[in-house]
Amino acid sequence: MKHLLIVYHTKTGNTGRLAEAVRKGASSELVTEVEIRVQPAREAGPEDLLWADGLLLGTPENFGYMSGALKDFLDRTFYEVEGRIQPLPCAVFISAGNDGSGALRAIRRIANGYPFIEVQEPVIVQGELSSEDLNRCEELGLALAAGLEAGIY
Ligand SMILES: Cc1cc2nc3c(=O)[nH]c(=O)nc-3n(C[C@H](O)[C@H](O)[C@H](O)COP(=O)(O)O)c2cc1C
Repeated sequence: MKHLLIVYHTKTGNTGRLAEAVRKGASSELVTEVEIRVQPAREAGPEDLLWADGLLLGTPENFGYMSGALKDFLDRTFYEVEGRIQPLPCAVFISAGNDGSGALRAIRRIANGYPFIEVQEPVIVQGELSSEDLNRCEELGLALAAGLEAGIY
């Protein structure tokens, strides 16, 4: 079994809905050999990253950056896993009022250090969530899970 970790933060629920869609896609019946773990950022720790073969990170854009809770997860895990993880295939989903670029830039900069390797284009949702946005998140989850199962990542 491969292991796919979803770590996200949500304050008002939007990123939480995206995370649920990502989880749904990753849990597709098309993928049978991938175990999924969903963790709110505040509850996630280094042991989750040590468990994971792939990673999905979700955040709102707050003040032009990722949420404090997701940053805190990264702060709490970087040195703890340094040298102990293989480069982790990763993708990002963001809920933002505007374009989400500040959050994405911040995640990418830190991801380089772990390293997390971005293997899919991010899903960035601007404003109200639509069913199309949720579909994009399902596809993202499925892509990560299927890629892990197939050994592509
Ligand atoms: C404190 C705070 C700061 C925010 N700053 C930004 C921002 O800089 N850029 C942006 O596009 N949206 C910003 N937003 C809007 C949120 O990103 C947006 O409402 C998002 O959908 C919230 O996600 P959530 O429901 O998962 O918490 C901010 C929201 C809050 C509460």
